[in-house]
Amino acid sequence: MSQQPTRLWDKGTPVDEAVHRFTVGDDPQWDQHLVHWDCLGSAAHAHTLAAAGLLTADELASLLAGLAEIDARHRAGQFAIPPALEDGHTAIEAYLAQRCGEVGTKIHAGRSRNDQVATALRLSMRHHALRWLDLLGEFVAAALARIERDGDVPMPGYTHMQPAMPSSVGLWLHASVEAALEQMHATFDLLRRLDTCPLGTGAGLGVPLALDRALTARLLGFSRVQRSPLDVQNARGRMETYFVRVAADIGAVLAKLANDLWLFSTAEFDFCRLPDALTTGSSIMPQKRNADVLELLRAHAARLPARLVELALVAGKLPSGYQRDLQLTKEPTIRAALEIEEMLPVAGRVVGEFTLNRAKLAAAMRPELYATHAALALTQSGVPFREAYRRVAEELRAGRFQPAELAAWRESDGRLPAGVLGEVRTEWSSLKSRAEELRRRIKGAEAAVLASNGGDPGA
Ligand code: ARG
Repeated sequence: MSQQPTRLWDKGTPVDEAVHRFTVGDDPQWDQHLVHWDCLGSAAHAHTLAAAGLLTADELASLLAGLAEIDARHRAGQFAIPPALEDGHTAIEAYLAQRCGEVGTKIHAGRSRNDQVATALRLSMRHHALRWLDLLGEFVAAALARIERDGDVPMPGYTHMQPAMPSSVGLWLHASVEAALEQMHATFDLLRRLDTCPLGTGAGLGVPLALDRALTARLLGFSRVQRSPLDVQNARGRMETYFVRVAADIGAVLAKLANDLWLFSTAEFDFCRLPDALTTGSSIMPQKRNADVLELLRAHAARLPARLVELALVAGKLPSGYQRDLQLTKEPTIRAALEIEEMLPVAGRVVGEFTLNRAKLAAAMRPELYATHAALALTQSGVPFREAYRRVAEELRAGRFQPAELAAWRESDGRLPAGVLGEVRTEWSSLKSRAEELRRRIKGAEAAVLASNGGDPGA
């Protein structure tokens, strides 16, 4: 019985060491991120095998206890995936075989690593998407608090980076808030796309056993099964692309804001400043206070679409069904998930903590910013727009631009219109409750499936 654990497909013929090393690559490293999810998928599969009469209640209980143990070890950083075993799926099965004896070798009936890995990745992406919703919500909260504090501070608005029209801190930050809310909607849509259960489809051609796939799906908190076994494999890469697409879009929102702050905090603009705690120094120039944090937000954001391209090229032109190429889709996916989770909190801190140079901002609110206002005021007294435009341009050129309404315009224009903030808050809190509701449902199912009571945790 106590055989040395080995590759699942070992048939006793030796494998070339270099080829083994090459095919395994850094897969164990990425599979470390999937151990928890593979334990959940394995637990659901064990329940389904028991429901099909392929495991006794005691056998099920033993497997669930073993899986919970693996999960706990993994949490403690003590579950190794030895490269000799190829991957996390094999390491988990080897552990079960050692801990549970013969029953440990029964769990692979009716599944393949192909549907196993698709399931673990789907669960993992679902988890990260839920986390993104949280973090996007927190980012929005930080930006809204900032708008409430300083929204009415006037600042120039730019096009082509040339002063264009009056704006304000509120108008500027509101753009990022709306974009982040849009990404929350996009994340819900992503979660809908991820909401089918791949497990029970075997290698991609179905399983000749009467497995209740609907039960498996329910146990894992999915709304439905992914019907086509072949599409489960074809969807590897596709699902990851949806996922990384959203990550890249979130990154782009943060990068734009970081870019603005970066520019506005140069000595030349001097509209705002990062507190010391958020800057870095130079090893040679004692005066330097560098905004590395903004530059790295930008660079991380730039890398996310590169991960998307990597996915598209690795998975995009494969024939249908599983091919080992798909193994390499894990890295860009997992990296993207983790990057977003580092970027959003950092961006939230920056938004909450930069300081404003009100004097510099006030000085930048030069009368020319109101040139369009002046032209439009003339049209209201009947002057055709092109003529009004010409007259104002002439006044500006001659240094005679002093509209009587300037003081009044300065008082109110370029501010975030009253009511907008209220609307934004309402949308934000409804998205937050929707996210909480979804999390409760999903995390409830996840917690139950590993509970080793041997019963049907989904019942
Ligand atoms: N490491 C593999 C992957 O990520 C797991 C699936 C292996 N399946 C196989 N037939 N070799 O794709």
